[in-house]
Amino acid sequence: MLLHTIDDVRRARKEWKGLTVGLVPTMGALHAGHLSLIKKAKETCDKVIVSVFVNPIQFGPSEDFDKYPRTIEKDYELCKDAGVDIVFAPSPKEMYGEGQRLSNDTLTYVCPPFFYVNKLCGKTRTGHFDGVCTVVLKLFNIAQPDYAFFGQKDAQQAVIIRKMVKDLNIPVEIIQCPIVREESGLALSSRNKYLSEDGKKDALVLSRILNNIKACYSKGITDISALKETAYSYLTDRHDLEYLEILDKNTLEEQEKANNDSIALIACRVENVRLIDNIYLGE
Ligand code: PAJ
Repeated sequence: MLLHTIDDVRRARKEWKGLTVGLVPTMGALHAGHLSLIKKAKETCDKVIVSVFVNPIQFGPSEDFDKYPRTIEKDYELCKDAGVDIVFAPSPKEMYGEGQRLSNDTLTYVCPPFFYVNKLCGKTRTGHFDGVCTVVLKLFNIAQPDYAFFGQKDAQQAVIIRKMVKDLNIPVEIIQCPIVREESGLALSSRNKYLSEDGKKDALVLSRILNNIKACYSKGITDISALKETAYSYLTDRHDLEYLEILDKNTLEEQEKANNDSIALIACRVENVRLIDNIYLGE
């Protein structure tokens, strides 16, 4: 079922008394990464709702909100094939009302703690995680899921959402799913569509850097600067590195030495497309 209004979702949700409901929040342009979340949701829950909403308030003014791929018909077909019960695809007006200036001057926002936001993607994407938490809480309130599914691909987002759920006592269990990659190692992303063939080859550097850091850690190197330095031989003038960090995977805290709880995270622009990836060192 493809639904566009909050009322319709609430009505359908009410029929599911006593059944477990899973929510998979997405911005559409669905790929195998999203589908892995949907598969996990199907395995875990009686009913599955997928939301498809390119959320204006999590994009900065100079970001790709307008050109973000919108493929709702194809997304709906993929969801139907995957056995999804409801695809919820609201308009911005349905989510945020009409004539509202979309800012925290006029709308209630959820602001995750500065400690989690003031690093990694949050450093350059001011307000991004406020926009994410706000829309995710709204989706939780609309769909009232027992479980919600997020990808490790957006590791900082997943940590921040868990924190919001804990701090605000939201009755939902967050399930995190592993990163789905192309055979080449490139992490699937809706933004890969912006890359040329050459750009896709250059983009492989992200996963190569991360795999190499993990290999070095496995050989016994735990010094974080030494691990980070191994990246530089991979980078060319076609790579614009935004960050490379090794942090605690649960708390995003800095560590004295890498350990089995460490995560290495990278953000790098290729052909001006901002790509992110990460790897757990301990698994
Ligand atoms: P979007 O980028 O569409 O991603 C939706 C979900 O799919 C996220 O939880 C993301 O981590 C997961 N995902 C993306 N690529 C993946 C991959 N290669 N392997 C596994 N999972 C992957 O993240 C968002 O949308 C938005 O911020 C959202 C949470 C929907 C709020 O608007």
